[in-house]
Amino acid sequence: MSDTQGRGSTSPLPGGDTFPPPTALAEAANVGADAYERAAADRLGFWADAARRLEWAQQWDEVLDWSNPPFAKWFVGGKLNVAVNCVDRHVAAGHGEQVAYHWVGEPGDTRTITYAQLQDAVCQAANALTSLGVQAGDRVAVYLPMIPEAVVTMLACARIGAVHMVVFGGFSSDALASRITDADAKVVVTADGGYRRGAPSALKPAVDEALTKLGDAVRSVLVVRRTGGDVEWTEGRDVWWHELVDAQPTTHAAQAFDAEHPLYIMYTSGTTAKPKGILHTSGGYLTQVAWSHHAVFDLKPDTDVYWTAADVGWVTGHSYIVYGPLANRATSVMYEGTPETPHRGRWWEIVQEYGVTVLYTAPTTIRTFMKWGDDVPAGFDLSSLRLLGSVGEPINPEAWLWYHANIGGGRCPVVDTWWQTETGGHMITPLPGVTATKPGSAQVPLPGISARVVDEAGEPIEPGATGYLVLTEPWPSMLRTIWGDDDRYVDTYWSRYGKTVYFAGDGAKLDEDGDIWLLGRVDDVMNVSGHRISTTEVESALVSHPTVAEAAVVGATDATTGQGIVAFVILRGNAVDSGDELVAELRQHVRKEIGPIASPRQIMVVAELPKTRSGKIMRRLLRDVAENRELGDVTTLTDSSVMDLIGAKLPGTP
Ligand code: WT7
Repeated sequence: MSDTQGRGSTSPLPGGDTFPPPTALAEAANVGADAYERAAADRLGFWADAARRLEWAQQWDEVLDWSNPPFAKWFVGGKLNVAVNCVDRHVAAGHGEQVAYHWVGEPGDTRTITYAQLQDAVCQAANALTSLGVQAGDRVAVYLPMIPEAVVTMLACARIGAVHMVVFGGFSSDALASRITDADAKVVVTADGGYRRGAPSALKPAVDEALTKLGDAVRSVLVVRRTGGDVEWTEGRDVWWHELVDAQPTTHAAQAFDAEHPLYIMYTSGTTAKPKGILHTSGGYLTQVAWSHHAVFDLKPDTDVYWTAADVGWVTGHSYIVYGPLANRATSVMYEGTPETPHRGRWWEIVQEYGVTVLYTAPTTIRTFMKWGDDVPAGFDLSSLRLLGSVGEPINPEAWLWYHANIGGGRCPVVDTWWQTETGGHMITPLPGVTATKPGSAQVPLPGISARVVDEAGEPIEPGATGYLVLTEPWPSMLRTIWGDDDRYVDTYWSRYGKTVYFAGDGAKLDEDGDIWLLGRVDDVMNVSGHRISTTEVESALVSHPTVAEAAVVGATDATTGQGIVAFVILRGNAVDSGDELVAELRQHVRKEIGPIASPRQIMVVAELPKTRSGKIMRRLLRDVAENRELGDVTTLTDSSVMDLIGAKLPGTP
């Protein structure tokens, strides 16, 4: 098939309807159907237009240099300053009084930060980092909770051309140490702690511990005081933020950097134990995250209140809490804590209080809200919402429909955005003013993006078939390499189908309309008796049963069928666990939804599922349980006791 294009499809899917864009939204949408035509006719011209939404100190000579694939250069010869684009130019244009962030702390404290205040803070932090000897190209490790200083630090790095390397605050000191070493960072920015689940949670001790292992590799540790808890102090190395940064001048002359100047490194796990340092650069990255944020969230800077409910420690936070929204002069909400603190309606209270119009979150969170019940969001006024987004994993139609009805009041389009740490920005997603949305499908590549679903041999598959998702042209916000490891970059992403085809590692299916359905990581696709079955498809079938709140499915080695399907399910609050009877009913339900081949060999009712700190279900561990193996590494689990609970369910375990 040819590259898919956005279009208002009307053909219904098995078990579901499509939702056309609301008329008023479509009429006023930032981006219409013509964008697909423009990009199809002149892809590089389209991206050059997108780049012109930014302020360049020097115009580029060439949009794309792809003469040495897979090493791309975008906007060659162009120069810009990313922080100036995110902050200063809005202040210069008279928007200094506009709120950049409504920040909400978990304990209930709040801060309102205007663009003018953000500019002052970023200049002060830039001056402070410079005073610590940080120069353009140096790496700065950032290990902070969800507080405004995280954004300020990232922008201060960008302003002086330093490369930030943010490590999610939930990672251990070991994970932090290995990343600091790999990136060779000389300065760490951290806090005494942050608030999580109603209590202060210390961060500085993890930094101290990490640095003990690293000798004197790190020169300075800049520490924000957030909780006021006691901290150990290393004289000559540790510096308080409020002493150093607050004393700096609020002006700083920003220099423009090359479009390909490194902006940040973000580590992500691969198939080996060593995480991959994904490198993003400046001009192309900012172009695509700004354009996609403008197009996919239809962001209106004067009226929208935008909220990405994620952590800045992940790529979602980098692209859609910090760079995309700020480049578009958005007013954002930023929330420090967890959704259930101090009560399960906290998010909806925030939406009501700030009049949030656009909300972006992950399916796992949506399913948690489903589990908590419809009555929680129903207790708040959510009428300000006009657009909802989903990211992180395939969203099962059941969760999509629940989100659409219970959060979006049936009136908000739901954009299911497929992308990765490596892609930097959205790649496959509906456009809210153009595409008739289809619950469960990310649907079509954005204008300017070329995606296909191919078979083992790299040939495009027929509608109805299943294959691998690939990207067939470079895109502006693509990773440029794996930090310090060009070979691994080539091997991991650009070898399977040749040097110009990006292998995403996701399975995908095309439907009769040519819409793309993501099926999860390729290693999560099971093979049962020679039939390829997605763990996601079976999970989706299970959660469509009225008793099931959440499900995780793994393929366990089976002597007869190759793999057998093992399902772990969490029941909804009001459901009764009738034991064997329920299991039989669920099996029957999956047979009905997908077919006998997908009927799980084993179904276990559990209280919790093991998840990484980013909310991904750790199927690897469940596979270990299903195959009666000793448990593998559980260090990235949110709560390792979950595995004890699940293990206790197994026959033959004490
Ligand atoms: C992997 C990337 C993108 C930021 C957060 C995760 C899965 C992500 C979707 C979606 C189906 C999705 C893929 C992808 N994924 N979004 N809308 N539909 N799958 O970033 O940690 O780099 O993970 O998340 O499997 O490869 P990440």
